[in-house]
Formats: sequence, C-alpha cells, structure tokens
Amino acid sequence: MGELPFNRPRLIGTEHRYVDEAIATGKISGNGIFAARCTAWLRARVGAPAAFLTPSCTAALEMAAILADVGPGDEVIVPTFTFVSTANAFAARGATPVFVDVDERTLNLDARAVARAITDRTRAIVVMHYGGVACEMDAVMALAARHGLLVIEDAAHALPAAVDGRPLGSIGQLATFSFHETKNIQCGEGGALVVNDAALVQRAEIVQEKGTNRSAFFRGAADRYTWLELGSSYLMSEVSAAFLWAQMEEAEATTAERRRIWARYDDAFAELELAGVVRRPGVPRGCEHSGHLYYLLLGGEGARDALIAALARVGVHAVFHYVPLGSSPGGRRFGREPEPALLAESLSRRLVRLPLWVGMDEGDVARVVDGVHAALAAEPLPQA
Ligand SMILES: Cc1ncc(COP(=O)(O)O)c(C=O)c1O
Repeated sequence: MGELPFNRPRLIGTEHRYVDEAIATGKISGNGIFAARCTAWLRARVGAPAAFLTPSCTAALEMAAILADVGPGDEVIVPTFTFVSTANAFAARGATPVFVDVDERTLNLDARAVARAITDRTRAIVVMHYGGVACEMDAVMALAARHGLLVIEDAAHALPAAVDGRPLGSIGQLATFSFHETKNIQCGEGGALVVNDAALVQRAEIVQEKGTNRSAFFRGAADRYTWLELGSSYLMSEVSAAFLWAQMEEAEATTAERRRIWARYDDAFAELELAGVVRRPGVPRGCEHSGHLYYLLLGGEGARDALIAALARVGVHAVFHYVPLGSSPGGRRFGREPEPALLAESLSRRLVRLPLWVGMDEGDVARVVDGVHAALAAEPLPQA
C-alpha cells in the first residue's frame, strides 16, 4: 500500500483546454477574459459589487491593508491562531497586529476578546473563518460599527461556505480568498479580493494596478494613465485564471465531495469524542462549512505527536498547524498580545489535521479512521 498524502490537488480535466484558449487570445497578462469569468462568478457567489483576482490570498490581504489605510501607530486586531499572512500584510504597512485568543469550539477569534482588545488606535478587525466555519460575524460587525472599524474577512478556507444563508466573504467591507493548491478551488498559487463596500471599489482597482488608473484608462474611462496612489502588481496571470475557471465550474461538486469525506470522519470519531479521548470540530448552528479541513483535538502535545507518528507508520500523512502568531518571534517583534492567548496556545499543541482531498476513496478514508482508532487504543491518551 502506498503512502496516503495529506493533500492531493484536484484536477478537473478542462484546465488544459482553457489554458490553451487563454494562450490563443494572445493576452496572458492579467484581467483578460478568464479573469472576467472568474470575478463574475465570485461576485455572483458572494453578492459583491467587485472582485479582483490576485497572485495569492497573501497579496489580496496586502491590498486590503493598503485599502484600510493603516500605518505606524494604528492597530489591527487579528486572531492569534491563523496563517502568518493574516497579520503580516498589516505589519508590512507599519501597523501593529493585536493578537486575540480563540473561541474553544470553533478555533475562530473570540468576539469577547476582540471587544477587550479595542483601543483608540484600533482601525480594523481581521477575522479568519477557520476551516470555513463562520466567525461570530454579528458580534464582530456590531463592535466594528460601534467603534468605526473596518472588517476584513480572511476567507482563505471559506469558498464556498455560509452562515445563516449569507456567504462568507460577503459580510465585512473586504474579504480575501486563496486558490493555493491546498484549497478547495485552486490554481497552484492564486487568490482574490472581494470588495463589498462600493466606496472602496475604485481604489481597489488602482491598488491592483501598481497605484495607477491603468484599468480605467484601458476601459476608456480616463484620458490619461498615471500614478495616483500606493499599489503594487496584484494581478493574476490569465494562464492561472484559465486554470481557475475550470475549477470554479466544478466548485459545488468539489465542495460536496469534501463535505462528504468530512462527514464520514466526523461520524467515525463520534464515539471517541463521547469517550473523552478526542474533540471533533465544532460547527455552530446555521454554519455551512466548506469541507476544507478536518481536525481532531487530543489531550496534549505528546498525544498529538504520538498520533502523527502512529499514522506515519501506516503510511498516512497527517499534520498540525498553526503555531500561534502572538507567541511567534515575528508576532512578538511586530505585534502585541494584550492578554495571554491561553486557549490558542493549548489547542494548537493538541491539533491533528487528517488527509482530506477529492479522490480519496472509501479504502483511503477507512485507512485513516482505522489508523486513528488503532493508535488511540494502543496508547491511551490523556483526556481531551
Ligand atoms: C487563513 C489563511 N490566510 C491566508 C493564507 C494565504 O494564502 P496564499 O497561500 O494564497 O497566499 C492561507 C494559506 O494557507 C491561510 O490558510
């Protein structure tokens, strides 16, 4: 039996044809016909006035940081349990990321911790929907409205996902998505910025084109093409956009299959949770998650490492993440943590992610499930 990888990017089969079509147009820089298709799909899916394809979600977060107009002296509240780019994009502009702890059930940022972290320097709140399970958006949006803050959704894991029928990425003024090969819908490296606040659309177009009005000029909406404000090269190539379009056409089917495998794991580990050996992901009522990832929480770091090692012995590649940003060297250097993030520190040391990708068959899933059961039976773990 071969190795069961942690991730295998899904290929739809139409990618080559669309990439050939893109090449045949003779225009493979950004914002061509495939970018138009992809951004129309995103606008329709999220119900947003504008969407921009970017080289990565990291780049989309950098666009968001420019649009948020933050700089030295400003604070941006971010979850400590997230990928580095959620905070780095704002630190790169000189703003201070302020790290808050997570909600134990979802591992998303805790809205009460956000409320306690707001100061007169706070300019924005960045939420991250972990595993495509929605953050407490009503509470976050209410806080932001009360304090005049911008809300940016890092929805890297959350396409497609929803809460109470509202697509994730449609609630904050800005939202970012990732099309990295590890995500549900992918083009190797890629991302998008969705702009829900109509007042930011024109600036976003300028920021994407190196701070110029190039897009308006080529549309015939400006008589000169010139430098207007800060920006960078935040366009996705048409080659990637063509690949991405193939993936978007199959987004619903891909997600349905990922959710099916997710549910299969969740059923298989229900008894272990009842026995107090593991904790499964919490999905609050009203949340439609994306099936992006499946994790188990164990009793401690030793138990986590023992499970990963036991799975490796049966050829299953499982991983853990994220080292909380607030206690990382970069987090200490560029940000601050107003209160110790005790939950995130503990949960991140106890978390194991299991393989989850389209193409895993029942035998693959059973191998992971059996591997987990065998490991936990062989080495009784501390109580979760
Ligand atoms: C929550 C989150 N935000 C941002 C990113 C960055 O995405 P990208 O690799 O597209 O820059 C990731 C990547 O895994 C992520 O998990």
